[in-house]
Amino acid sequence: MNNTHSNLTKWSFASRFFHWISAILLLITWTMIFLYDNLDSNLYIGLHKAFGVSLLFWMIARVINRIFTKAPPAVVMPKWQMLLSQLSHFALYALLIAMPIAGLLMSLYGGRPVDMFGVFQIPVFVTPDRGLARLFNDWHTGIIWSMIIAFTVLHIAAALYHQFVKKDNLIARIK
Ligand code: HEM
Ligand code: HEM
Repeated sequence: MNNTHSNLTKWSFASRFFHWISAILLLITWTMIFLYDNLDSNLYIGLHKAFGVSLLFWMIARVINRIFTKAPPAVVMPKWQMLLSQLSHFALYALLIAMPIAGLLMSLYGGRPVDMFGVFQIPVFVTPDRGLARLFNDWHTGIIWSMIIAFTVLHIAAALYHQFVKKDNLIARIK
């Protein structure tokens, strides 16, 4: 049970590519809202929305890839860690899909179309409703965002624990 020999079986190229581009898109989307909060320029809120919707498309493709590609055999670890790992991976997938959907619905119920980098627009296909816009705003900036932070911190802490405490080379599987 506590055999910690390294297991170098990697995730498929597609899974690794999906993983790192998702992380980069999340970082960019967050950077845009950070710049908007601090510089108060409409350029950044527009880019926040366009990168956020791009992450939604990316995550949909990632889920499809996840269904069709085989995961490498899990690294040997205690059962509770295994369960926590599976739960947090599932949560990260769900949250990275829920977050842009909430953002999109907030904008659309607020009566605002979303411009995708000037290439095309997502039109207001719902009947604007201030109450619903406020509800999705609350979820977007409150519960969903807090959970993304919590699970991402846990995820990176777990990766560092594997790397530097257990030394089982887990990060090499996703590199
Ligand atoms: C995974 C993708 C996304 C992440 C991680 C994200 C994250 C955030 C964060 C952290 C805030 C600021 C919260 C605060 O300052 O209190 C925010 C605000 C906002 N987001 Fe997103 N967002 C994403 C996608 C989207 C999308 C797709 C849209 C719309 C199409 C959107 C529209 C907005 C708007 C309008 C605000 C300002 C809300 C306000 O100031 O009350 N977001 N987002
Ligand atoms: C420095 C940043 C990061 C590191 C070092 C890292 C490391 C890893 C590692 C080692 C795995 C594979 C675990 C295994 O083989 O059992 C993994 C998987 C995963 N990571 Fe990350 N990660 C990082 C950032 C992120 C971010 C920002 C997110 C999303 C918010 C994320 C979401 C995921 C998900 C959902 C999986 C599961 C993959 C699957 O089941 O398809 N990671 N990560």
